[in-house]
Amino acid sequence: MNDLAIELRGLTKTYGTGALAFQALKGIDLQVKTGEFMMLVGPSGSGKTTLLSILGCVLSPTEGEAVLFGEKLHGRKESELPDLRLSYIGFIFQGNNLIPALSVEDNVAFPLELRGASRKQALIEARDVLSAVGLSDKMKRHPNDLSGGQRQRVAVARAVAGRPPLILADEPTASLDAHTGQQVTELLKKLSTERGHTVVVVTHDNRIFHFADRTVHMEDGLLVPAPAQP
Ligand SMILES: Nc1ncnc2c1ncn2[C@@H]1O[C@H](COP(=O)(O)OP(=O)(O)OP(=O)(O)O)[C@@H](O)[C@H]1O
Ligand SMILES: [Mg+2]
Repeated sequence: MNDLAIELRGLTKTYGTGALAFQALKGIDLQVKTGEFMMLVGPSGSGKTTLLSILGCVLSPTEGEAVLFGEKLHGRKESELPDLRLSYIGFIFQGNNLIPALSVEDNVAFPLELRGASRKQALIEARDVLSAVGLSDKMKRHPNDLSGGQRQRVAVARAVAGRPPLILADEPTASLDAHTGQQVTELLKKLSTERGHTVVVVTHDNRIFHFADRTVHMEDGLLVPAPAQP
């Protein structure tokens, strides 16, 4: 049994080539245990989204090693990434990326159908997880009929539906007020603990740091020790 969810060794990412090349990750070493709830913080441009995109099998690394639940991501063809993403990853975005034309329950069911669930199974799981986030009465609504906090709860439900082992969230509370941001993070933490997900959250929101098992700091493409408090 591998108790490491994520292992990164000397990971780099360079965007572009030649004179336009830009090294966004400069050699990242990181291990995240299965079931850990980690937060990643750092200034704008430090490489957080880039790192999350490699973990999320959206971008391939340039150099170094990245292993997710024992599966190597380095040395893969780009064409293999979408299948890995579907099997391992649930994403939560700042702007939630819900599909406005679909009902709330279809927004959650749709990725499950992409993973091979029947429509019926997908709807059963979607309704189950929507009731776990307190939205049983909103399942037939469309995202635009909901408040910002409710939309982010749908995004949490969609990410955890189907129990992907790794949940990645990029600034999930950025568009929410402080109280709602706390509620959404608390919900994510509770569901992840109950269901055994490993979670990496990128955030600037220091009001949610206390939910983390560990906070990792990033600066200029590298992980750094926590900056001294002013
Ligand atoms: N597609 C791209 N092509 C070239 N450079 C890029 C690309 N995407 C990001 N970068 C650069 O890589 C660096 C890291 O970007 P990234 O989006 O990972 O930062 P971030 O820490 O998520 O910042 P923020 O907090 O503003 O979201 C930045 O300097 C950015 O300009
Ligand atoms: Mg970013």
